[in-house]
Amino acid sequence: MTELGDEAKIPGDRVVGRTRHTELTVDEIAELQHGLSDLMDTFARRFWVMAYAARGGNWELARYEWRESVKLLHQMTKTRPKYAEDLAAFERERFNPIGSALEASDLPALEVAMRAGIDASDTYHGKWAKPYIRFRLPDRPPDFPDVSK
Ligand code: HEM
Repeated sequence: MTELGDEAKIPGDRVVGRTRHTELTVDEIAELQHGLSDLMDTFARRFWVMAYAARGGNWELARYEWRESVKLLHQMTKTRPKYAEDLAAFERERFNPIGSALEASDLPALEVAMRAGIDASDTYHGKWAKPYIRFRLPDRPPDFPDVSK
């Protein structure tokens, strides 16, 4: 978060944005930002595209999905700081090895790293009292984008 001195801050409930449809305070706009579940859902879809792009030899697309996913992890931390430590540990220990395998275009290493990442997601979901959320890589390629080379 950007640090402003208290005297420089204007409370978000006093600043109003207007659209053609309504007026919203800055606090209300902040509240409307995607929460963890939406971002996780997007992350999971990108994981799927990343896996099949690499398997299809479209390494550029796979690396692109990885880079966008790292941004998502950082966005999650920003909107839900209580998960910051776990998200950073996941990035360091599980997601960076996936990135290294992608960089090296090393499919066997990527498969191992993705497996470890998925196993870790089960562990984190369990830790945060959501053991019923178990991400699994689908056994078919995504409908879009085209993952072939
Ligand atoms: C491969 C890595 C991961 C994948 C693919 C993944 C995927 C998902 C999916 C699909 C959901 C359900 C979203 C929905 O439909 O509402 C979810 C929820 C969730 N994930 Fe992850 N996840 C991963 C890693 C993590 C990590 C490292 C954490 C650590 C904080 C985490 C914490 C959570 C929590 C707390 C929820 C529930 C959302 C909420 O309570 O608002 N996940 N995840």
